[in-house]
Amino acid sequence: MIEFPDDFLWGTATSAYQVEGSPLADGAGPSIWQRFAHTPGLVRDGATGDVACDHYRRYRDDVALMRSLGTNAYRFSIAWSRVMPEGRGMVNAAGLDFYDRLVDALLGSGIEPMVTLYHWDLPAALDDRGGWLNPEVARWFAEYAAVVFRKLDGRVKMWATLNEPWVITDGGYLCGVLAPGHRNRFEAPIASHQLLRAHAEAVKAYRAEGRHRIGIVVNLEPKYPASDDPGDRAATTRADAYMNRQYLDPLFLGRYPEELREVFGEAWPRWPADDLALVRQPIDFLGVNYYTRSVTRFDPHAWLLQAAPVVQPRATYTETGWEVCAPALTDTLLWVKERYGNPPLYVTENGAAFFDPPALEGDCLPDPLRVDYLRKHITAVHAAIEQGADVRGYFVWSLLDNFEWSHGYSKRFGIVHVDFQTQQRTPKDSARFYARVIASRGRVLNEGGRPGGSA
Ligand code: BGC
Repeated sequence: MIEFPDDFLWGTATSAYQVEGSPLADGAGPSIWQRFAHTPGLVRDGATGDVACDHYRRYRDDVALMRSLGTNAYRFSIAWSRVMPEGRGMVNAAGLDFYDRLVDALLGSGIEPMVTLYHWDLPAALDDRGGWLNPEVARWFAEYAAVVFRKLDGRVKMWATLNEPWVITDGGYLCGVLAPGHRNRFEAPIASHQLLRAHAEAVKAYRAEGRHRIGIVVNLEPKYPASDDPGDRAATTRADAYMNRQYLDPLFLGRYPEELREVFGEAWPRWPADDLALVRQPIDFLGVNYYTRSVTRFDPHAWLLQAAPVVQPRATYTETGWEVCAPALTDTLLWVKERYGNPPLYVTENGAAFFDPPALEGDCLPDPLRVDYLRKHITAVHAAIEQGADVRGYFVWSLLDNFEWSHGYSKRFGIVHVDFQTQQRTPKDSARFYARVIASRGRVLNEGGRPGGSA
């Protein structure tokens, strides 16, 4: 019998650069995403976040939309360069005021804010000083965080330092597909390490003056060996160390996984023990972003990991090429519980990009594959709770179709459709389905049903 607890948080999630638009309004400085998107050839169709969902100006309507769905939580991020145009020093009161108004609007509608301090949009001025490669960045981040805490901690009770340090370094410093677009095996472990230090310094700053709860958000993608072959097994372990344990082991256990030495070879630095002690700051919760799993095999030609994913012929894949596999979400949450001492958890992102058919009469927007995805994954979260994982909330990625990084606007993750010509918002069937899940505290999931049925 599925029934979620009374105090379970049901939310949606977005991030600043992906939805806000007006990136330079009211005295804001440019971010690395502003620069990246404005460099020809880096983002599909030359798309930028200049307008995005125009949420910076339409936030009140978007909060009303969240309320109409019955959500009681909203995860959003703060653009560092709105608050500090140069990344440090001068504070731009007008930029901070936007988040002040947003928080008030949310609370006025009975929606708990969960604030992420960093979702990939580093102030460009800091990138000029080496960005995440400069050890000073930990101090810069903690200073920025303290400014935001002082303004909002009276009303914001859930804070996340970073969103997905793995994606920041893999996309931004190793593969070059995300800002700042570097492709350098030597930089990647440095950026990861400075991200972890920055997280820890922000947590320390929070302990000095914050009154509520702070954590971090990681993306986890469990790895399953394609066979019992020792080569496949070892490749799977390396992939898991690189993507999942690279961050969680230092955060919870105070050490990096051994396999990273083998993965990075001569590019793996020797880190001071003090840094690792710093990184292991107690946190109040862990945010888990889950989209897919990977079945992994040994591939001698694969750069760095010598591991490659194996396509599952019978599975459904999303438009971003990710296998739909809900049981792996249960596995992931239970793995965190076992390995890291049962920390309080939130599923801070979960969702899928699928091709959305055009609107039918009466504004009806059928998206049966996304409905099915949500049905299965929310059920999987419940299964993890039943087996003892301390999961306290679930956030759909995303409230709105938005700027999907280097894919531009070509991948739609929203449960609400956005017409980017008119900015009109239209709830898809998945939004209506999610509203029913929330209203029934998940009991509607007991009805089962075919993909898209009774949405
Ligand atoms: C990120 C989001 C992104 C989503 C879908 C996550 O990695 O936090 O910003 O839009 O995945 O790709």
